[in-house]
Amino acid sequence: MSSQTTPAQEPLLRGVDVTKRYRAGRSLGDRLGRRPERALTALDGVSVDVYPSEVLAVVGESGSGKSTLAKVLVGSEIATSGSVVFEGKALSPKRHSVDARRIQMVFQDPYSSLNPRLTIGSVLTELLRYHQIVPRNEVKAEASRLLALVGLDDDALTAYPSQFSGGQRQRLAIARALAVRPDVLIADEPVSALDVSVQATILDLVSDLRDKLGLSVLFIAHNLAVVQHLSQRVAVMYLGRIVEIGTAPELFANPSHPYTRALIASIPRMREGSVNSAFEVEGEPPSPYAIPVGCRFHPRCPLATDECRVTDPQLAPVAPEGAGSTHLSACLRVDALPAVQNATRTIPVERSSR
Ligand SMILES: Nc1ncnc2c1ncn2[C@@H]1O[C@H](COP(=O)(O)OP(=O)(O)OP(=O)(O)O)[C@@H](O)[C@H]1O
Ligand code: SF4
Ligand SMILES: [Mg+2]
Repeated sequence: MSSQTTPAQEPLLRGVDVTKRYRAGRSLGDRLGRRPERALTALDGVSVDVYPSEVLAVVGESGSGKSTLAKVLVGSEIATSGSVVFEGKALSPKRHSVDARRIQMVFQDPYSSLNPRLTIGSVLTELLRYHQIVPRNEVKAEASRLLALVGLDDDALTAYPSQFSGGQRQRLAIARALAVRPDVLIADEPVSALDVSVQATILDLVSDLRDKLGLSVLFIAHNLAVVQHLSQRVAVMYLGRIVEIGTAPELFANPSHPYTRALIASIPRMREGSVNSAFEVEGEPPSPYAIPVGCRFHPRCPLATDECRVTDPQLAPVAPEGAGSTHLSACLRVDALPAVQNATRTIPVERSSR
């Protein structure tokens, strides 16, 4: 599938205007001072579409709301407002088990999600039997097929999670998620805890699975470099909002939000040979208890003006792509960004068999 064709299709999974607030509770001082309960805004009106057979990467600093978005989409957190739509149908917060099965999640730490006392064969066969994915006499063959799909051989069936390396455990976690034949895989930082060389092999696996199974993947990462080769589209999150979204070629050739430029500038291998070397942003994101008025990025933005301190920018098409463009940025001053002289260069990836 070409990245350009993606937005012409109907989305498979949609988050529509999703807001998620967490109540902080009141301290004794708050109660004595009769101060109202405080709420933390983890997601603030986020709309996102995941199309069939695409890898959509979601990147952003710690605390930007990536995991909360994943949890709301998979149904393990209930949105404060907004909705989740799958194949055109709004999902109820308490999902029917069939709906739940079709959106699966894998996590950064595969070990914590694999029962250390069960062999991999037991984990897979129990799941296959419980969900009646194949007839009972085909369960063993299906478990072998799942392992082959993630690049592991049958020996894994009789082994325990502790007998595998980090990369292999992530393959097992992916096999377990695939056992129930989902349409969407949500992967929350699945490579962040792995060595760089092993990361590349898992990224290759995700890419293969998209090709072979037509799987849609929402792939969460801290680091833009990780997703450059993997994703058809990239969404950049900042403080509970998507601030830029576009196809990977659009976004890397013409990063159109100061925060995206800063993310790229913070990666030495990407900075080399890129105009973004000049674009640095300092400081920490503001507290999610007190999101700045106007553009939420203004306290850290080198381009901020008085207008940015009062106007909250919404996602809008980036010129010169125009009204039909799929490349959107939530910045009032896209025109003031320095012109990109060199598109962000391709980063070599290391390979390992682990
Ligand atoms: N259960 C919760 N209760 C209260 N606050 C929460 C809860 N879960 C998340 N948050 C807060 O919501 C905000 C977004 O958190 P989230 O985990 O979604 O960020 P993230 O982008 O996934 O960060 P990281 O890269 O560190 O995983 C943060 O300020 C976080 O502290
Ligand atoms: S709207 Fe203003 S403060 Fe916000 S990112 Fe754009 S230039 Fe910076
Ligand atoms: Mg997270």
